[in-house]
Amino acid sequence: MNEKKIIIKKNGPYMVKGGIPLYTIENIIDENGYPIGYSEKKLVKTGPNYALCRCGQSKNKPFCDGTHIAGNFDGREIAKVNDFSNNLQNFETEKYELIDSPIMCDHSKFCLRAGGIRNLMVNGDDESIAIAKEEAKNCPSGRLTLVDKDSDYTSEEKYEKEIILIYDNNTKKNGQIWVRGGIPVIGEDDEGNEKKYEVRNRVTLCRCSNSEHKPFCDGTHWVSSEFKANFREKWNLD
Ligand code: FES
Repeated sequence: MNEKKIIIKKNGPYMVKGGIPLYTIENIIDENGYPIGYSEKKLVKTGPNYALCRCGQSKNKPFCDGTHIAGNFDGREIAKVNDFSNNLQNFETEKYELIDSPIMCDHSKFCLRAGGIRNLMVNGDDESIAIAKEEAKNCPSGRLTLVDKDSDYTSEEKYEKEIILIYDNNTKKNGQIWVRGGIPVIGEDDEGNEKKYEVRNRVTLCRCSNSEHKPFCDGTHWVSSEFKANFREKWNLD
């Protein structure tokens, strides 16, 4: 079997290679509007290789139907290959460290419940830490990982190589493409050179075409430009 990987076609789809299973999933929202987990994932039938829509215009979503050509889709990859590692703004308490790369945020909002993950870490009681662990684990983009400095605990789960299409129950919209288990994502820069993104256990890719951090989702599918601008200022992102 071919190597499992995702090749990003210039101004075109994600070409998924090597028999990577594709699933759908929905987030579960609590009474205050915060996501707290996920539904069971459901398998989508595919062949071993398939093309996922990246321009958001296909009439055969989640698969590409070629509409990007007529629609003049501008799929320029703005992200740098090591954006995760080069933009860390970690946070720690005496016992825990939060590995945090805000530039990778897709604004899924898992980390905002119950006062937010940093406040929960500072609270430090068992209930707060249990919620903080859940929040870090559920963050689809992998922006956040919580580690215990005194043990080998990490919120990073071991995932199979798989792709999951997230449906957001808050906005009733299709959300990100969740890529799990360390699947190489390989794109192309403006000069046609290969871009091999850092291989990570969790990343989320844009499928609405509007992210300003393509190929990654930056939450544009459901947050406003103003919200994103404030976020970038808060975290001092270029
Ligand atoms: S799918 Fe999230 S910004 Fe496009």
